[in-house]
Amino acid sequence: MLIVSRLTAGYGKLTILHELSLEIQEGQFVAILGPNGSGKSTLLKTIFNLTDVTGGGVEFRNQAVLGRPTEQLAQLGLAYVPQRENVFREMTVRENLLLAVRGASKANARQTMAECLNLFPILEKRQAQKAGKLSGGERQMLAIAMGWLKRPQLMLLDEPSAGLAPLFVAEVFRTLKELCRTGITLAVVEQNARAFCAGVIMPT
Ligand SMILES: Nc1ncnc2c1ncn2[C@@H]1O[C@H](COP(=O)(O)OP(=O)(O)OP(=O)(O)O)[C@@H](O)[C@H]1O
Ligand SMILES: [Mg+2]
Repeated sequence: MLIVSRLTAGYGKLTILHELSLEIQEGQFVAILGPNGSGKSTLLKTIFNLTDVTGGGVEFRNQAVLGRPTEQLAQLGLAYVPQRENVFREMTVRENLLLAVRGASKANARQTMAECLNLFPILEKRQAQKAGKLSGGERQMLAIAMGWLKRPQLMLLDEPSAGLAPLFVAEVFRTLKELCRTGITLAVVEQNARAFCAGVIMPT
């Protein structure tokens, strides 16, 4: 589904990714592991046109990806949930969610929102709350929900469990597993390999 071949990228003259290659197959739930500073976020940022590429390529379902604006990537079926600053803090939860469904017909948006609150029950009661006032775990759920609302085929998530208490980590992975079951392919940057494996393998 996604083929990264010999990708070389970084920031200006600073090269972070050196001829990186990987493949993600349809339906997979994959983890991208690595120590702090190894370039995991840089990889996702590169796919989303936020770094400087000096070599190699990325294909999503046989279409070249590099250099495309976010809107086009969304149309192709790709969603990205960044590690930081992934919600609009001054807006309410509901406003953030509505922003993610803009462009859909009213009836469609209403149905999608209802489905969303069903998948992310934690957000139901917090709809009127400013996103900046959510707990870390709630905010992460909102960011994931915003990605999901774009109806992606492949979601790239950057450390969705970072800084969360174990109970919330389990909740995030349960939700991600649920998304995978609905047919979305997931690639997750994760330090928490144990929780990831538990989320993937353990029956719930
Ligand atoms: N905007 C930037 N400008 C210059 N260098 C950057 C920039 N962003 C990241 N870097 C550098 O790129 C390297 C890789 O950073 P990156 O954020 O991709 O690592 P990471 O694997 O995601 O780490 P972490 O697990 O801590 O999130 C680091 O050395 C970092 O200092
Ligand atoms: Mg990172």
